[in-house]
Amino acid sequence: MSLAGKSVIVTGAGSGIGASIAERAARSGARLCVAGRREAPLKELAARLGTPVEVVAVDVAARDAGERLVAAAMDRFGRVDAVVNNAGLARFGKLEESAAEDFDAMLTVNVRAPAELIRCALPQLRAHQGAVVNVSSVGGVLSMPARSAYGASKAALNSLTRSLARELAPDVRINAVLPGPVDTPLWHEAGLTENETDALRTSLLSATPMGRFGDGDEVARLVCFLIDPEQSGWITGALMPVDGGRTA
Ligand SMILES: NC(=O)c1ccc[n+]([C@@H]2O[C@H](COP(=O)([O-])OP(=O)(O)OC[C@H]3O[C@@H](n4cnc5c(N)ncnc54)[C@H](OP(=O)(O)O)[C@@H]3O)[C@@H](O)[C@H]2O)c1
Repeated sequence: MSLAGKSVIVTGAGSGIGASIAERAARSGARLCVAGRREAPLKELAARLGTPVEVVAVDVAARDAGERLVAAAMDRFGRVDAVVNNAGLARFGKLEESAAEDFDAMLTVNVRAPAELIRCALPQLRAHQGAVVNVSSVGGVLSMPARSAYGASKAALNSLTRSLARELAPDVRINAVLPGPVDTPLWHEAGLTENETDALRTSLLSATPMGRFGDGDEVARLVCFLIDPEQSGWITGALMPVDGGRTA
């Protein structure tokens, strides 16, 4: 129960990696404020977790999303100890076939929204020597043909993480995890045809030394380690791959 008593905000917790993070954090004793656009999966998540959960249906791209999330956590738990910026948007495709609107949307959800939530949570994070974990991607450090805009948005999130680590130390630690491929709904919502998705999955598998996709809980364990000051109190500004060796 290493996160006992801590109040943790997790965005994009209704599915995939975010749901695994919420489950793992709850098992470690955290109290959770979970966010996503759809309320139903968040309520289902809350019902199966054995810990207090505040559900906030919000689009993180909204200008007031950060304020709303911090206010909800404060109303329910009276403090914020950690923020996990996990909500993310992936739109894959070659540049000449991609829409500028998709580029804007990825920069907003994957970069601006995490920065805004951190800004809103800062007084609380400072008060409690808190931590931030940004869920980035190996796409932020690898070359990503046909996924360049997604990769660029994650590279920007990596840069934000490293700069803020220096800006906010020693009060607040901030790190990023860089997952390789994990089987989640993201793959079916990235704008590819079924054949293109299958081809991409096959090529990613062959590029991953461990020879398999990751599991959401394998990412969640690293996130919970990085939230917990007992375990990672001297780690800040790190970009940590959890990728089956894909970036090795
Ligand atoms: N799966 C992978 O292979 C992989 C690899 C590397 C990195 N990642 C990163 O891991 C994170 C989680 O992705 P995932 O794979 O678990 O996919 P996912 O299951 O699609 O999860 C994304 C979550 O984010 C929420 N979300 C998306 N846009 C949002 C918005 N504007 N406002 C609020 N919530 C929003 C979604 O819920 P609603 O639709 O209800 O809003 C969803 O629950 C992302 O940052 C992704 O880039 C994934």
